[in-house]
Order: sequence, then structure tokens, then C-alpha cells
Amino acid sequence: MESYILEILNLFGRWLHMITGIAWIGASFYFVWLDNHLLPPLKQSDADQGVGGEVWSVHGGGMYHAQKYLGAPPRMPEHLHWFKWEAYSTFLSGLFLLILIYWYGAELYTIDPQVLVLSKPAAIGIGIATLVLGWLIYDLLCRSAIGNNDKWMGLAILVFISLTAFVLSEVFSGRAAFIHYGAMLGTIMVANVFFVIIPGQKKMVGAIKAGKTPDPIHGIRGKQRSVHNTYFTLPVLFVMISNHYALSYNNTYNWLILIAISLAGALIRVYFVARHKGQASPFSLIFAGILLAASIVVAAPKPAAPVSGEAVSFAEVKQIVVSRCTACHSQTPTQAGFASAPSGILLDTDVQLLTQAPNIYQQSVVAKAMPLGNLTGMTDEERTIINRWFIAGARP
Ligand code: HEC
Repeated sequence: MESYILEILNLFGRWLHMITGIAWIGASFYFVWLDNHLLPPLKQSDADQGVGGEVWSVHGGGMYHAQKYLGAPPRMPEHLHWFKWEAYSTFLSGLFLLILIYWYGAELYTIDPQVLVLSKPAAIGIGIATLVLGWLIYDLLCRSAIGNNDKWMGLAILVFISLTAFVLSEVFSGRAAFIHYGAMLGTIMVANVFFVIIPGQKKMVGAIKAGKTPDPIHGIRGKQRSVHNTYFTLPVLFVMISNHYALSYNNTYNWLILIAISLAGALIRVYFVARHKGQASPFSLIFAGILLAASIVVAAPKPAAPVSGEAVSFAEVKQIVVSRCTACHSQTPTQAGFASAPSGILLDTDVQLLTQAPNIYQQSVVAKAMPLGNLTGMTDEERTIINRWFIAGARP
């Protein structure tokens, strides 16, 4: 029953996280687009009132007319919409999933004794520290002298996140390293909204209401953080889906792949933001393409070591699968935390085993991603036996 409840929480937590994430990133993409498509106002009277730019658009059967004020509008509107709950609820639902899957289930998903032997509290401690320190260090960088120079700041962020990717890959399982890296970037994005952008906007609105000129520093700081958020978006989204693809994270160079794809994601965003303004240069896109191509080459599975020796009997293979895989991959899993076969892969019967042969080979011999966290203690000899059996034609 506990496993079933965990799985239900996981499913609905993910659903919520996806919905809130779409609402947040969707609004964020829209506002970047809006800002970059502003045209001078058509009516002089609007310009006189302080409108710096406007956009006409059509959507869902209606015409929309958005105007951006450079400073204070002539009078404060009664209803002002704040975009913040999209970000906060994405963070809360993401934290919920992180706690449920990677902290509560640390033995399954986060700890990989082949990377580093960790106790559960140590793994959770490192996870929490990644989020907290990630924000503190990034925030410090923004507030330091480096933060005043966009180029240096960009470089500092790249160095910082690269180090994080490397260190995490040295302490956690590949998938946990990826997720914690993505969660750290996501936390920074939300903390930017919570600690900098929204408080700045509150001060600005407060000043306007009090009839004072708002201090431009709030706008400048908010803009810097919001630009960073724009470039973090694609890397974070990549990381969030990557944990379904063992080829991306189960690799000696997984940290390099993570850095390369993060950089590529940021460059793709650079291209689209520039394109909004009609200033796109293909170079950022080409460079992103090179980085992605390099990642694909690095992630490619290495052919398993050639095997020779005596033929392997199907009975031997079945014995291995029963002792190492069916604790989870069964109609009735016995492994704690599993209410149903993960990814729907069942290995109970001969037919299932034979049809899954390529997947069994791929996951347990090539990628060595299975058994998950090697929880059932599969040995190298056993992997070699599967290898031989598969190469010889995977016959019953
Ligand atoms: C402790 C539980 C556990 C054990 C033991 C285990 N697996 Fe898995 N397996 C999982 C989970 C969880 C997933 C889903 C992974 C994901 O979502 O990325 C999975 C996914 C798979 C997949 C689908 C991969 C994909 O990306 O489509 C295959 C194939 C697989 N396992 C084969 C095996 C084989 C073969 C063994 C035994 C050598 C094994 N598993 C042992 C938990 C386990």
C-alpha cells in the first residue's frame, strides 16, 4: 500500500509540476517576446502619458493591445496582476518531487555506491546544500563587482555551474546529479523572483503610489535576474526530461554532457531572443549545434567488450534475471517502493524476457543503468553472461 501511495503522489506531483512549470515558463517566454516586439506608440497622447512601446496582437478570437510604460503610469490601476505564483508553485511542486523521489527514495535513485558510498542522511544533506549554497553563491556573484559586467558575470555563472555539475557527478548517481543540478538552477530562478524581482517591483509600485520617482536600481537588478532566468530555462527543461534517458546521465563524462547541453540551451535562447529583435546571428545557433553534436558523440554507447567463450544457456540468463531484475520488473514487484513494474517492463515469463532481450542487453550490459542503483547486486560476470547470450542471438 505504501508503494502505491508513493506512486500516486509521484504521478500527481509530476502532473502539477508540469502544469505550473508550463504556466511559469509560458508567461516568461511571452513577456520576453512582448518586450522585444514593442513598437513606439501610434497615438501621440499615449506617448505623452509615458507609454514607451506597444504591441498589437490577436489570439483566441480577440485583439489585444499591450502597452509598456517607461516609468510610472499617470495613475495606478486598481487591479495590478503580479506574476509570481506560477514560479512559486513550480518550485513547491518540484521540491515535493525531489523530496519524494530523490531524498525519501535516496537508496533507489540518489546513492550509487559505484560513484560514492553515502549514507541516506549524507545524501539528503548534500541535496539540500546544493540548493541553498547554489543560490547563496550565485546571489553573491550578482551582488559583487563581477555582477556589474554582463560578460564576466556570464563567464562566472558558466564556471560555477560547471563546477557544480562535476562535483555532483562525483557524489551522486548520474540521474540524481542531473536532477540536483537542474533543481539548483530552478531554485535560483525562483529565488530571483522571490528575493529580487518581486520585492523590487513592490518598492517600485510603492514609490509610484506615494507619488515619488522609483529608484531605477530595482529595475536594473530585476532586469539582470530576469535575463539570467531566460537563459537558464532551456537547460533546466532539458535536465527535467533527461532522467528518463539513461544514455544522457549514465556516462563517465555525464558532467561534460550536462555542461555542453546547458551551454547549448542558453545559446539557443540567445538566438531566439535576438531573433525577436530582428538581430539574430546564426553563430549562436551553429555553436549550439556543435555542442549538441559533441554531446551526442560522447553519449553514444561504447560497444560492449567483445565476448568469447562457451555458449550460454537460457536457463542461466533466466536465473540472473530472476535474481537481479524481477524484484522490480514483475507484475507483482517485491522491491519496497514499487507498486508496479517500472516503465512497464515485465520480465516474468520466457516470452517477456525474449522480447525484451535488446532492452535487457542495452540497460544491463551497455549502459549499466540496470539494476537501478545496482540494488540487487548484479556482478560483472553476470553482465558478461547476458552479453554473450545476446551476441549469440538471444535464443531460448
Ligand atoms: C530496484 C528496482 C529495479 C531493478 C532491480 C531493475 N530495474 Fe530496470 N528499471 C527500474 C526503474 C525505476 C526504471 C525506470 C527508469 C526511468 O524512469 O528512467 C527501469 C527501467 C528499465 C528499463 C527501461 C529503460 C528505458 O529507458 O526504457 C529496462 C529495459 C530495464 N529497466 C531493465 C532491467 C533489467 C534487465 C534489470 C536486471 C538486470 C533491471 N531492470 C533491474 C527499476 C529497476
